[in-house]
Amino acid sequence: MNKLIVGNLKMNLLSIDEREQYLNLFKRELKGKKLEKVDLLLAPPFVHLEGFKKAKIKNLSLGAQNMFWEKKGSFTGEISPSMLKNLGNDFVILGHSERRKYFQENDQTINLKVQIALKEGLRPILCVGETGEEKEANKTLTVIKREIKNALRNISRARAENIIIAYEPIWAIGAITTPTTNEIMEAKVLIKKILVELFGANYTNKIRILYGGSVSVTTIQATCLDSGMDGVLIGRESLRPYEFLKIAELVSGSS
Ligand code: PGA
Repeated sequence: MNKLIVGNLKMNLLSIDEREQYLNLFKRELKGKKLEKVDLLLAPPFVHLEGFKKAKIKNLSLGAQNMFWEKKGSFTGEISPSMLKNLGNDFVILGHSERRKYFQENDQTINLKVQIALKEGLRPILCVGETGEEKEANKTLTVIKREIKNALRNISRARAENIIIAYEPIWAIGAITTPTTNEIMEAKVLIKKILVELFGANYTNKIRILYGGSVSVTTIQATCLDSGMDGVLIGRESLRPYEFLKIAELVSGSS
């Protein structure tokens, strides 16, 4: 199974000019790079999805950073899963901690989104992870368990393989500290166990479990390679194509 390198561009690239600059740089950095056994995916803001698609970057998948749980209708300001799919996206990040924090997303609404994403043929990248306080209180594993079980309610086994999980400790996002390799491994083992409980071993082999939170060229070894994760979800460093692709190269070279 290839490792998955996801770039979450968040609310950046403020104009078409900025977007084009980013894409040109990305293409330039990608040229001549031999990236084997890694899949690349970028999640730009909605308004840039079409522009990214038109850039036709080889072997680059696209995803959105969020979406609504209804397909169509009177939901002012929302984006439908079908819109994303029809624009040529295959992935959608769901339950990111910034959505939970600033937009009151909760396990229940995230579950609705995961269900419809799968139904519409989008692959959800479900983010879970504990706050600094929860970590202090030794609740990391409890939080992960609750978030995954709730988000994956009423999902059939047959669709399970399309799910991707990203373990993102909230205290490590946009920070300078990251969990230890052991802590990440422990989270992965637990996630795997929950998935097997929910769907059975045969249906969970293809579910990739990523790490996210201050991933960089310097932290990639400890956060992904040593901990045996199936890839990473990158925030800040995805805004710098050189760094993003360097991380991909390191992951590729390690396999
Ligand atoms: P970061 O963000 O890499 O800037 O810590 C990760 C994320 O929010 O997904």
